[in-house]
Amino acid sequence: MSVSASPTTATARLLPGRPVAEKILTEVADQVAALRAAGVTPALATVLVGDDDASAGYIRIKQRQAAELGFASPHVHLPASASQRDLHRVLEDFNADAGVHGVLVQHPIPGHLDYDRALQVLDPDSDVDGMHPVNMGRLALGLPGPLPCTPAGIEALLAYHGVPVSGREVVILGRGATLGRPLAMLLAQKRPTANAAVTVVHTGVADWPRYTRRAEILVAAAGVPGIVRPEHVRPGAVVVGGGVRYEGRRLLPDVDESCAEVAGAITPRVGGVGPTTVAMLFRNALRAAQRTVGQG
Ligand SMILES: NC(=O)c1ccc[n+]([C@@H]2O[C@H](COP(=O)([O-])OP(=O)(O)OC[C@H]3O[C@@H](n4cnc5c(N)ncnc54)[C@H](OP(=O)(O)O)[C@@H]3O)[C@@H](O)[C@H]2O)c1
Repeated sequence: MSVSASPTTATARLLPGRPVAEKILTEVADQVAALRAAGVTPALATVLVGDDDASAGYIRIKQRQAAELGFASPHVHLPASASQRDLHRVLEDFNADAGVHGVLVQHPIPGHLDYDRALQVLDPDSDVDGMHPVNMGRLALGLPGPLPCTPAGIEALLAYHGVPVSGREVVILGRGATLGRPLAMLLAQKRPTANAAVTVVHTGVADWPRYTRRAEILVAAAGVPGIVRPEHVRPGAVVVGGGVRYEGRRLLPDVDESCAEVAGAITPRVGGVGPTTVAMLFRNALRAAQRTVGQG
């Protein structure tokens, strides 16, 4: 199966993330079972600070999924009044615990705490989000290490759906640390599922539609609801909606739904990049455990 960026007026083919995530998670579960059979129970620890309902809900979902996949999932819940030092102490304890392989700090944390500083306390090899500065450096240098989950999920999604990336023009709208910047580094790497000509546009490029309109693959990574409209899309192009904003529980994507009338293929409004992001989290946790026994 392959998708080309040929002109079309038909409604775009959907590129759902769920089947991609299921495939990745099936592989993860098999490898977790193999580790357990060898006497190692992979552990993904979670840290929640404060009482935000949505964050508590995300942690519960991840813990349930961890259990289904065979991971242990030790959890620490700090009160909203916790200090930066309290948070660091939890992370230092996890770093020192040989039974904990991956650590996830649920984002966002209360405003008086500094997430980036906390991340730097974490052992880079346990950083399942792939956002530690050491892991960003590894990505920039092409060294092995945990990859940032959303960018890695997008590469996997394109590969799964047979979208050729190698040699093609990819334009990313947004240069944020979570998505646009690491995705640009990833898709420019010399690998069959990457190897693209990547352009990154942002608020410093006033005429960004000039670039997005020539993209064979356009990735929205701005976090500005509805910013990508049909007139910004090359007919037949592949459009990936990564950027989202939440208003309460309402999800507002960067990509206007009407882009489906111009694109050749497009990620769905819900169930696109989100499921692949979560799958990559567990893949990073698995690999962290495998490394401790000389695999991965
Ligand atoms: N689906 C998922 O699972 C998932 C996971 C992670 C992140 N995300 C989403 O991905 C998005 C990006 O996150 P991030 O942390 O990487 O980025 P970020 O730090 O929020 O930065 C947004 C980027 O978009 C650019 N931008 C914003 N408004 C623009 C405009 N009007 N015109 C042109 N460029 C504009 C900004 O340009 P400047 O640099 O010039 O300011 C910046 O580079 C967010 O919506 C986030 O929620 C989704």
